[in-house]
Amino acid sequence: MTKKTVFSGIQATGSLHLGNYLGAIRNWVKMQEEYNNYFCVVDLHTITVPQDPKILNANIREVAGLLFAAGIDENNSVVFIQSYVQGHSELAWIFNCLTPMGWLYRMTQFKEKSEKQKDEVSVGLFDYPVLQAADILLYDAHLVPVGEDQKQHVELCRDIAQRFNYRYGNVFTLPDAFIPPVGGRVMGLSNPDKKMSKSEENKNDAIFLLDTPDEIRSKIKKATTDSLRQICFDETRPGVTNLLTIYELLTGKKRSDIENHFSGKSYKDLKEELTEVVVESLNPIQKRYQKLTGDKGYLDQMLKKGAEKAAEQSEHKMRQVHEHLGLR
Ligand code: AMP
Ligand code: TRP
Repeated sequence: MTKKTVFSGIQATGSLHLGNYLGAIRNWVKMQEEYNNYFCVVDLHTITVPQDPKILNANIREVAGLLFAAGIDENNSVVFIQSYVQGHSELAWIFNCLTPMGWLYRMTQFKEKSEKQKDEVSVGLFDYPVLQAADILLYDAHLVPVGEDQKQHVELCRDIAQRFNYRYGNVFTLPDAFIPPVGGRVMGLSNPDKKMSKSEENKNDAIFLLDTPDEIRSKIKKATTDSLRQICFDETRPGVTNLLTIYELLTGKKRSDIENHFSGKSYKDLKEELTEVVVESLNPIQKRYQKLTGDKGYLDQMLKKGAEKAAEQSEHKMRQVHEHLGLR
């Protein structure tokens, strides 16, 4: 039986954090043997908000390196950089011509991001979900493993695929989002009412995959909790629930066992144990990252191979698109 296809993308906006890892990358690693996989560093999405070219270039490489370090295996997965494969921007343009603007005005991520930018909002930021649809549909992906915040974008992608198929014939596979039952929305440490994010002003909000043990300890120590005593999973207490959820995801233990384990203990105990678990979980990734980036040509070579494989599929799909549209 042929394997189904998985596609997912990640921006190069800065260092990756535990939310990216637990909500997305870790699932990509776990699922990769079962599927044909494409994992893409979406640099064209990243430039929808202003970037410093030097920093952007370093971030693209860091994110790609971390994907391999986290366990993405070139034998099961194609890892590549979006802008190296022409089809993404061309298909996005074609989709622009059949996507109503009203669909894009409804996107909550656009509303949030454009509010921060006010008059500087680019056409690209508005168009972001259309480029994302092109990413997914070029590869005939069946499944798109993402965090909860991307659900709406994957639904829009389906709508675009359906509209194209209806107008021009059956070209695209309709994808489904895969959102993990736990971990789809890891919250910030200092502000547990909001998702952990790269752009948060408070640098203690996110644990980055390359943070040192001291940085991790200090951030977890400062994490917001509450004035209650009992340590348990409780949606009305987002701070402690978030810490326990991170613990749950990294240890694989059952919620009831975790609550029993911390019964009668203090927040200080929870934070110390969580620090140990996070440091131990990130250590192998960090070691692999150092090794991989120590070899100068390695990453370039992997990314070149990835782009070649991705381009092969992308070109095949674009030929179909051209024909169905009457361009060839
Ligand atoms: P981004 O860094 O925005 O490109 O996100 C990369 C992936 O990480 C996407 O699948 C997001 O949905 C996921 N993600 C980002 N932040 C979080 C978070 N706080 N919790 C869970 N998943 C997240
Ligand atoms: N918008 C996604 C995010 O910010 C990144 C992304 C771009 C993506 N293209 C994609 C995710 C295609 C899944 C599939 O997280």
